[in-house]
Amino acid sequence: MLTALMTVSRPLTASRASALAGAIAVPGDKSISHRALMLSALAIGQTRITGLLEGEDVHRTASAMRALGAQVMRDVPGEWHVNGVGIGGLTEPDDVLDMGNSGTAARLLAGILASHPIFSVLTGDASLRRRPMGRVIEPVSQTGAQFSARDGRRLPMAIRGASHAMPIAYRMKVASAQVKSAILLAGLNARGLTRVEEPVATRDHTENMLRHFGAEIAVERQEGGRIITLAGQPELIAADIAVPGDPSSAAFPLVAALLVEGSRITVRGVGLNPLRTGVFAALRAMGARLSIANERIEGGEPVGDVTVEASPLAAADTEPALAPSMIDEFPILAVACACATGTSRLRGLGELRVKESDRLAATAALLAGNGMRVEIEGDDLIVHGNGGPPAGGGLVATQMDHRLAMSGLVLGCVTKEPVRVDDVSFIDTSFPGFVDLMTGLGCRFG
Ligand code: S3P
Repeated sequence: MLTALMTVSRPLTASRASALAGAIAVPGDKSISHRALMLSALAIGQTRITGLLEGEDVHRTASAMRALGAQVMRDVPGEWHVNGVGIGGLTEPDDVLDMGNSGTAARLLAGILASHPIFSVLTGDASLRRRPMGRVIEPVSQTGAQFSARDGRRLPMAIRGASHAMPIAYRMKVASAQVKSAILLAGLNARGLTRVEEPVATRDHTENMLRHFGAEIAVERQEGGRIITLAGQPELIAADIAVPGDPSSAAFPLVAALLVEGSRITVRGVGLNPLRTGVFAALRAMGARLSIANERIEGGEPVGDVTVEASPLAAADTEPALAPSMIDEFPILAVACACATGTSRLRGLGELRVKESDRLAATAALLAGNGMRVEIEGDDLIVHGNGGPPAGGGLVATQMDHRLAMSGLVLGCVTKEPVRVDDVSFIDTSFPGFVDLMTGLGCRFG
């Protein structure tokens, strides 16, 4: 059913909007939602989850955890409960686990499966089947698990989990929270200490949530990076989770309001984990009038209300070391750069090449197809803005990538001519209700 829905392309056109106004909330954080379902399935007892993202990606994780023996129930919209089976308690699924469009679901689950003595097969949609899995297979094989994947270490991939998993010691080769998390999750059912060294810090939701469930985890900070040590085979105890609004989703309405003259909007309850908020810092550095109020801690994560007012923007220059803290926001940040005055340089975007699409090339194409001058130099994206609205009038090829679709629609809110997006169906993977929410703020899609 899901697959059938995803194969029908839904084009949509965005036209120039007049001032956006309103206070909204965005759906729950995607990264935290996946982890909430996975860890609660491995805990003893019942975990109640509120604010869970009900996007396609997270539904895939819910189905997979059910197929592995956990009870995962939706009570009312956004409120779920999970009865966990305990670490080591997952049972062999009787069919292939289809993770749809979700790299996070596939990679984190590969870590969990590696240290359970069961056989499983992971697959995904055409976009996910193109994405590299070697980055997980290599470290996680240290447990003793056996992986057999398609050429180029791509899905579908079979996993024969280790009966007596060995703990992993690994220094990260790419800055990837998915790989780090896969290693830590594999370490949950290994005897002894799992140790991951990351030279560049990446989002730490797995570490925070492991602590929340009672695992013994130590994090040592060093020169921008971290060393994380996890004691294997803890007893995870069910602990309720409130999922904050996704800052990666909030970035779309916030950038739209920054760019459309006369706008002022607030997004309430946005997750403000410092390893996720690079885009807000980058926008402020460009001159965005962006303020944060009502800061609080919810479920172990900082949360606040973010308000923006339309602002003239200057060019951006972002450091490679900060790329992980806004890795999913570069397409929409590039849209902001297209409307800024001067030449922006977004540095160190190599990882964008292995997202839901080759997002580096696709972001450049999105802007170039709408009248902007852009270049890719090595791993940097260069955008020449002249402070005025881009021409628009182009067709955006979304390539099964939700963030390109949303970036194209936001671009069309400011361009002189409308922007057509070839397929908005993938927006449902991370931001169900995006079109209605944006329309409610004043956007014109049709
Ligand atoms: C995620 C990590 C990032 C990000 C993805 C979600 C996670 O991927 O792009 O959308 O939840 O851990 P990488 O770890 O591959 O950079």
